[in-house]
Amino acid sequence: MAQIPVLDHDAVLAAVSPEQAIVAVREAFLAHHRGEWAMPAKVYLESPGFGDFRAMPARGAGLALLKWVTSFPGNPARGLPTVTGIVCLSDAETGEPLMLLDGRSVTALRTGAVAPVAARALAREEAAGVGVVGCGLHGTWAARCMAAAGYETGVCHDPNAEAAQRLAGELGWRAGTLSEALRADVVCCVTPGEQPVVEAGDLRPGLHLNMLGADGPGKAEATVAAVASCALFCDEWEQASHGGELTGAIRAGLVERERVTELGAVLAGDAPGRPGPDAVTLFDSTGLAIQDLAVAAVARAAWQAGAVEAQTVRL
Ligand SMILES: NC(=O)c1ccc[n+]([C@@H]2O[C@H](COP(=O)([O-])OP(=O)(O)OC[C@H]3O[C@@H](n4cnc5c(N)ncnc54)[C@H](O)[C@@H]3O)[C@@H](O)[C@H]2O)c1
Repeated sequence: MAQIPVLDHDAVLAAVSPEQAIVAVREAFLAHHRGEWAMPAKVYLESPGFGDFRAMPARGAGLALLKWVTSFPGNPARGLPTVTGIVCLSDAETGEPLMLLDGRSVTALRTGAVAPVAARALAREEAAGVGVVGCGLHGTWAARCMAAAGYETGVCHDPNAEAAQRLAGELGWRAGTLSEALRADVVCCVTPGEQPVVEAGDLRPGLHLNMLGADGPGKAEATVAAVASCALFCDEWEQASHGGELTGAIRAGLVERERVTELGAVLAGDAPGRPGPDAVTLFDSTGLAIQDLAVAAVARAAWQAGAVEAQTVRL
């Protein structure tokens, strides 16, 4: 077996800029919508009392990917990251493994990148200010990607004031209260989803919500009533209806399939996006393996071009 290149956390982040991740993730949604990229449903493996593992496969652009990734909400209290994992990239023609990549950095980049992809498609054109609710790892990358996409101002909110200050300082934004963050044109919620941070009374005409934190069963960042009163969009219906922000409203019988549009259809121009300037739009991101494939493919191309160095292993 040939030697396999391995890109660690820092190599992935050196290989793929937020701008490149945004372009690649947008193109992945389009390719998947056209049926060119395949993505079976992600498989959850609970680790009761601790968190869960997810196995996430996708195929496209001559490559196949499996991400084995976690969400362990109690980890920060142990000084460990909530999300860890590994990505295996294979040749779609021969099945041979081509590269191993750190899953945490790939996940952070692709999760952050979807925030401006959805905002550019669904928020009002003149939307400028960003509210970030939850400034941990993925809130930070969502904010970095929003800034990279040209959103110039933002309010960062987190009960951990230091986390909010750090992110605000990095981007030249400001830290603020929850209600200040919720008054922004585009609000990105990236909390652990243990309690709602958005209620129906917080919704204002023209608001766009990116709900990124609820990516598994039992998590929600908005009340069911808030979700049900928005124009609804998701990354992928199967995932969003079973383990996303939409799940509670669907279970309560308040939202049906016909009311929810997938982002890829909007990007392709096959479905309408924002119904009007006063609508409140909500995008439910559960995180797709096609996003991981998009970022991993850019990282591999950067390595092939000699832009970053890889370690190697012989299997
Ligand atoms: N949609 C996706 O593709 C995707 C991808 C990765 C992770 N996630 C999910 O995103 C969530 C956040 O993940 P992370 O790795 O950034 O976790 P993290 O622990 O690094 O950060 C979470 C942050 O939220 C803050 N927070 C907690 N309660 C809050 C509240 N009520 N209001 C505001 N902030 C609050 C915490 O203080 C912390 O800073 C998790 O649920 C994770 O599973 C989603």
